[in-house]
Amino acid sequence: MCGIVGYIGQKNIKEVLINGLSELEYRGYDSAGIAIMQESNLSIYKSIGKLNNLIDKTKDLKTDKNILRVGIGHTRWATHGKPTELNAHPHIGEFSFVVHNGIIENYKKIKDKLEKNGHKFISQTDTEVIAHLFEYNLEKQSDALKAFQITINELEGAYAILLITKSENNRIFFAKNGSPLIIGYTEDEIYFGSSDAPLVGLANEVTYFNDNEFGVVSIYNNTNSIEIYNKKFEKVDIIKKSLSINKQFAQKGGFRFFMEKEVYEQSRVISETIMGRVKDEKIEFEELNKTLFDNIENITICACGTSFHAGLASSYLFERISKVPTKVEVASEFRYKEPLLNKNTLFIVISQSGETADTLEALKMAKEAGLKTLVICNVDNSSMVRLADFTILTRAGIEKGVASTKAFATQMVVLWMLSLYIANIKKSISKEFLEKELKAILTIPSILKIDNNLHEKLKRLSKRYLHGHGFFFIGRDIFYPLALEGALKLKEISYLHAEGYPAGEMKHGPIALADSELFTIALMPKNILYEKMKSNVEELSARDSTILAISAYEFEIADDFIKIKEQNHYMFEFFEMMIVLQLLAMEIAIRLGNDVDMPRNLAKSVTVE
Ligand code: M6R
Repeated sequence: MCGIVGYIGQKNIKEVLINGLSELEYRGYDSAGIAIMQESNLSIYKSIGKLNNLIDKTKDLKTDKNILRVGIGHTRWATHGKPTELNAHPHIGEFSFVVHNGIIENYKKIKDKLEKNGHKFISQTDTEVIAHLFEYNLEKQSDALKAFQITINELEGAYAILLITKSENNRIFFAKNGSPLIIGYTEDEIYFGSSDAPLVGLANEVTYFNDNEFGVVSIYNNTNSIEIYNKKFEKVDIIKKSLSINKQFAQKGGFRFFMEKEVYEQSRVISETIMGRVKDEKIEFEELNKTLFDNIENITICACGTSFHAGLASSYLFERISKVPTKVEVASEFRYKEPLLNKNTLFIVISQSGETADTLEALKMAKEAGLKTLVICNVDNSSMVRLADFTILTRAGIEKGVASTKAFATQMVVLWMLSLYIANIKKSISKEFLEKELKAILTIPSILKIDNNLHEKLKRLSKRYLHGHGFFFIGRDIFYPLALEGALKLKEISYLHAEGYPAGEMKHGPIALADSELFTIALMPKNILYEKMKSNVEELSARDSTILAISAYEFEIADDFIKIKEQNHYMFEFFEMMIVLQLLAMEIAIRLGNDVDMPRNLAKSVTVE
């Protein structure tokens, strides 16, 4: 949530900051702003809504090259205070400017103290206190870095902060705790970003800050200077990594939305996810050490949103195939339930971004309790990847659509492969079964090739599902988490009310809602509990609910029917239905005129709890 960028150098700084923000816009688009300092002249621009508004507002701002300038920028997902221009970052004290990603939990206390000392606040944000607190400390302590350190030590909560101040006009102060922050550099330039993305193509080398690190950067005589400190104010060694990500993958490539492109990419990215991992009639994860599974008696999976759904779906595979008892927890619940953690548990977190605050905190808890930890993640070098004992990368490529699609598909394939990998180590499956499953996994890329007729049919069908008082997505077994995922896709981009439900549970309450205005999306795989599903759907149909059935078998009582190919493995049906649900949600949202890639109130990466 929220993206921050910073720059010191002689390039056209407006372009650098705005291009950087456009790479981070997926993290929040309630408002955007930049502050640029040239010597001690400062200009600040903010606008509400998407970045385009800021681009319009700054169109007359000239920041030609070859002049050393310092700047910071922010794209906001509102936490404290409405998305107004006053609440947009950068926030201002008297002479200092701050951008922040995270939440300052004790901001009220700090604000009260500062107000008593004559500081005036103009926004409702938690962030504004940082600029004022820094200035308050600077009054008592003339060394700016020391004043910054005292400021940071007083903050509680999560933050990635960049601060510039007129009195130190070619420096950027930075601090990180909980929220991601990366610095990139060339010999005479310094870049900051909340992720690698704004740095790609600009900085060849980067450093990933650890929690509780802070410091200051500057350029003197065309040479960069970077000082990083830990909490005790001791200098920290700068660990440089090279940065190489191919930017061309982040273009829409002729599709209407990134989400559409990403749905169509699933076949290819699954091939990449599988590549080199299915070999010699077994699954190989080079990144894992087989001893990881020594003494493991059970698995706990923690994740949020779509990644949680992948985790829940995989619990059916870990129990059915690996024969390992598996619990799945929503990360935000897990953290505060005082969970009983057992050293014989393998703790798996799943995350597209590797930055989701609740999942990251759950991972920290598990590590501190001495559990073996594994992250299944799409972003190398993300906070979770750097923290966990082991990582399996999902290789989905950059996912720009806020509604996760290809990341989910790759997570599912990795989890399916992992269930077989563990089963093989624990000898809980036969050689024949493993061979059959491997063949099935290798078939997934072709299953995910999207048939034009199917897409056209969903486009047509979508117009019948724009109204009504709600949707129930129902399924059983591993199709229940898929139903949850289908409902999440629909609600996040169409803003229609949708729930995923275990089909057998409808009669315990929700069926009371059934009438012709209630849409039921029924996942009816022929390979798992087909007859049971049929009865559950009949019960809803008898109460007039409008039924859209997705199945390999014609189902005469359904009002609408999407036929998937006759498949002889339930996971084939799973992936086919996944595509149908993604496209259906997208086509409904497009008909409703919504911005599919940047749905209201959401952000791609949720780095606050
Ligand atoms: O990056 P993560 O996988 O940790 O993100 C978790 C959720 O925030 C994410 O899946 C969210 O629910 C998506 N918008 C779903 O489409």
